[in-house]
Amino acid sequence: MKKTNRKIVEEIIRVDHAGERGAMKIYEGQLLALETIKNNENLKEIIIEMKLHEKVHYDFFEKEIQKRKINPTKLLPIWDLLGVGLGFSSVLLGKKAAMLCTASVEEVIDKHYKKQIDSLENDEAALKEKIIKFRDDELNHKDIAYEAGATKEGFYSIFDKIIKTGSKLAINISEKI
Ligand SMILES: [Fe+2]
Ligand SMILES: [Fe+2]
Repeated sequence: MKKTNRKIVEEIIRVDHAGERGAMKIYEGQLLALETIKNNENLKEIIIEMKLHEKVHYDFFEKEIQKRKINPTKLLPIWDLLGVGLGFSSVLLGKKAAMLCTASVEEVIDKHYKKQIDSLENDEAALKEKIIKFRDDELNHKDIAYEAGATKEGFYSIFDKIIKTGSKLAINISEKI
């Protein structure tokens, strides 16, 4: 059976709401590590700035969830934990890993948002517009991350694959439940 438009839009908002919240949680975990165990003022500044954008993204989807009476994913508490955990441990691994975490996630999100933009009909022009804007922000985050030292060399390529696989899994689950 073909998915109805309403169903498609519902899935888009549910998963993006979860994803943007996940992004905030990753940065929260990174900042927690930077405030307790590791000290790197420059990295901290970069993360605080990007986290502000994620908050704007998240707030938009939170409003949409309420306005359209969509159920958020039931797994939010788990994504929160995993997000903070991933962020925290990435900082423990060092600046390169912390920034790779952003780069890897954003590379998945880039394709994810692109797919959504292509699937949205014109009756959802305002939503489409927002996702186009957010995708630009995420691509910008990816660039910032590479400039700040993200790398996929050696061991880091494994970290990249783990993050990408995890992000894709979280996306697939959060669309549905
Ligand atoms: Fe975002
Ligand atoms: Fe981002």
